[in-house]
Amino acid sequence: MKNICVLVSGGGTNLQALIDAEKNGLIKDGRITCVISSKEGVYALERAEKAGIKTFVIPRKDYDSIAAYTKAVTEAMQAEKADLIVYAGFMTILDEQIVRAFPYKMINVHPALIPSFCGKGFYGLHVHEAALAKGVKVSGATVHFVTEECDGGPIILQDTVQVQNDDTPETLQRRIMENVEWKILPRAVALFCEDRITVKDGRAYVDL
Ligand code: GAR
Repeated sequence: MKNICVLVSGGGTNLQALIDAEKNGLIKDGRITCVISSKEGVYALERAEKAGIKTFVIPRKDYDSIAAYTKAVTEAMQAEKADLIVYAGFMTILDEQIVRAFPYKMINVHPALIPSFCGKGFYGLHVHEAALAKGVKVSGATVHFVTEECDGGPIILQDTVQVQNDDTPETLQRRIMENVEWKILPRAVALFCEDRITVKDGRAYVDL
């Protein structure tokens, strides 16, 4: 049974999808053992508490460098004996210390079809604003391993939605969350926990 630690910063709908997937037996070989938030007072913490999951807040604002912040999160993950770390709407880019401590043991959900609309500055609604500004006709989400390159690690799962003429960033975000993120993130976590993902030459291969 793998220990899953989830990093959050906001509303936590992806965390909720993971909690539900564990409850429904979709995630069989792992359990969510803790949730860490980079901000106090976010709704994701309430979702975790309601599900009886241990929570910590490690406020980003209390650390004056990304290195010091990464060290604190890395040490917390080591103390929790994390086998898998899930970035579920976690809005801080951590540095290479945590990547070295947890190689190919961290996954992130990104609300676009990587390599489009990703990297520094592309997070939350900004991603959907950029997709609409470009006029893309499909968008979607990606679950990938976290490496030193922001949003650049091996892709595990992706899926798409159609973009509609009258979409706003909010309507597109919602369609992508409901139809893609809340499905592919729990599926990727289940696959990881069942040891069905391998990485070779920078690519992830999934035994579906
Ligand atoms: C989700 O759309 C997630 O993909 C995105 O933020 C939202 C968080 O929602 N993450 C990023 O943009 C990270 N680069 P949630 O807190 O309800 O899960």
